[in-house]
Amino acid sequence: MRRLTSQALPSMSRTFIIPTPSEDAISITLREPSLTADNLGHKTWLASYLLAKQLPNLTRYIPALGSGGQVIELGAGTGLVGLAMAAMFDVHVHLTDLSAIVPNLLANATADSSNITKGNLSVGELDWSRLSDHCGEEHHAYDVVVAADPLYSPQHPVWLVGAIDHVLKRDAGARVVIELPLREAYAPEIAELKLRMEGLALIILAEGTESGTEDWENNHPGNERMEVRCWWAVWQWIPSSISPTKDNTLSEAA
Ligand SMILES: C[S@@+](CC[C@H](N)C(=O)[O-])C[C@H]1O[C@@H](n2cnc3c(N)ncnc32)[C@H](O)[C@@H]1O
Repeated sequence: MRRLTSQALPSMSRTFIIPTPSEDAISITLREPSLTADNLGHKTWLASYLLAKQLPNLTRYIPALGSGGQVIELGAGTGLVGLAMAAMFDVHVHLTDLSAIVPNLLANATADSSNITKGNLSVGELDWSRLSDHCGEEHHAYDVVVAADPLYSPQHPVWLVGAIDHVLKRDAGARVVIELPLREAYAPEIAELKLRMEGLALIILAEGTESGTEDWENNHPGNERMEVRCWWAVWQWIPSSISPTKDNTLSEAA
């Protein structure tokens, strides 16, 4: 479990400004209920803000989805990345998280839908640890899987990669996009994630690092805001493991 700087952080509402490839920036206002160690998804973490801002650059690695495009966000928390994707690219995004996080996620998706074409968002519970043996409607259904800051316990790599295996289409255009903080304490989880993705026949198509600060963490007198380095990566299936499809990019469609 991730260590927090205080037992509980108060409720707040924040507005995030996300640049887009062609038009004005998108403004997304999110409700962030009080945070404890049990409900980390009640805050919008740095990796998710950085990933939302990276989306225009990442389009060159993500095939054009068109109006039938299906995106799923795993561990969506307050929903920033998924809401930004739906608004920016007019694709359907299914925002998912643990049951305790879903009510606030749903509230944010509903409240912020002014930015987003009607019908382009859905919200549901999806627990990575409970997917392996059942074939629900999400089975191999998604063109793009996104996740921000999803690793903070030793079980997370195996669960997360299992969930990706479960939901990702077997298609040459399928992509997984993850951004996470390079915190020393979670180096083993990050290493295991890379190995397990490779074991699934997913290879890194592009990757990079960037830095920022959590603007709510340590945000009290006497504490300096800590700069956090984050790593992003885009995976695709090893070409020999699936059949090829056309490969236009999202930016061409946007
Ligand atoms: C650090 S938070 C990141 C939230 C959001 N992606 C962000 O970056 O702001 C990690 C998220 O993973 C979710 N999570 C943890 N374990 C999970 C599991 N077994 N199944 C689904 N989601 C899980 C948490 O509820 C939380 O929303």
